Amino acid sequence: MFVQEGESSETPISSMPGQSRYGIQKLLSKAEEALLLGVPAVALFPAINEAAKDPRGTEALNENGLLQRTVRALKARLPELSVITDVALDPYSSDGHDGVLDKGQIDNELTVPLLASMAVSQAQAGADMVAPSDMMDGRVLAIRRGLDEAGYFNVGICSYCVKYASGFYGPFRDALGSAPKSGDKKTYQMDPANVREALREVRLDEAEGADWLMVKPGLPYLDVIRAVRDATPLPVAAYQVSGEYAMLKAAAQNGWLDYNQCLLESLLCLRRAGADIIFTYGAVEAARLLRS
Ligand code: PBG
Repeated sequence: MFVQEGESSETPISSMPGQSRYGIQKLLSKAEEALLLGVPAVALFPAINEAAKDPRGTEALNENGLLQRTVRALKARLPELSVITDVALDPYSSDGHDGVLDKGQIDNELTVPLLASMAVSQAQAGADMVAPSDMMDGRVLAIRRGLDEAGYFNVGICSYCVKYASGFYGPFRDALGSAPKSGDKKTYQMDPANVREALREVRLDEAEGADWLMVKPGLPYLDVIRAVRDATPLPVAAYQVSGEYAMLKAAAQNGWLDYNQCLLESLLCLRRAGADIIFTYGAVEAARLLRS
């Protein structure tokens, strides 16, 4: 779910029909609706005002920041709903990258400690699980150490372990205004042509202490989900990303696809490929369909 300061957006996100950037109050009622339908967890993404962004994403560490306040409000109102927070600098970075740039290049060493501090700040606010989506090398280990040193032994890590440099993230970046200002994310996200690298990422993240391993995007990468499921004893998550959701919605709006049938079919196929857990913008709709 997307959250913003103040009231919810009047209009839905144009490339993600049915999704909005909610204010905290509205988000609480939407999350409650999800929980009552049987959705066990929400993943949160904050839309940060441009004025609060800087090259190091300093606002990510603000204990009274938008995300931290949202997590506290959710855990106070709905303690049984699990809250998953995103660890990456892009919503906070004036450069729109997941890490810190140094002379135009991502600086992994400078970035990783910031990500660990960000994860601790989210845990302090009450996050049940932190989800590093940044793809910097070594960040799972640094986050695990950071959480343990701060006493958050029970906060889990869902690693975005196998994350491709994908065009399917476009609507998400529109929703958050987080697109890179220059360059692309190909130096840290994976090459869509490469599947063997996924197995290397799995070994690294397992050794560094990840609790769940994610493959992202979902439907175009079913073979990767299967390969990862076969390679690890850890739970495997698949993320049906914004562009996948947008394709289904756009086709349905044109009368070209039956949305409900295709949503459930695509989720079923992620499951068939080996996903134990699915992140999807269609979670509430799917939960409702599965109940009826
Ligand atoms: C950012 C992040 C992205 C998504 C989740 N976390 C975008 C990106 O890497 O540019 C994409 C989710 C989606 O498209 O639904 N670290």
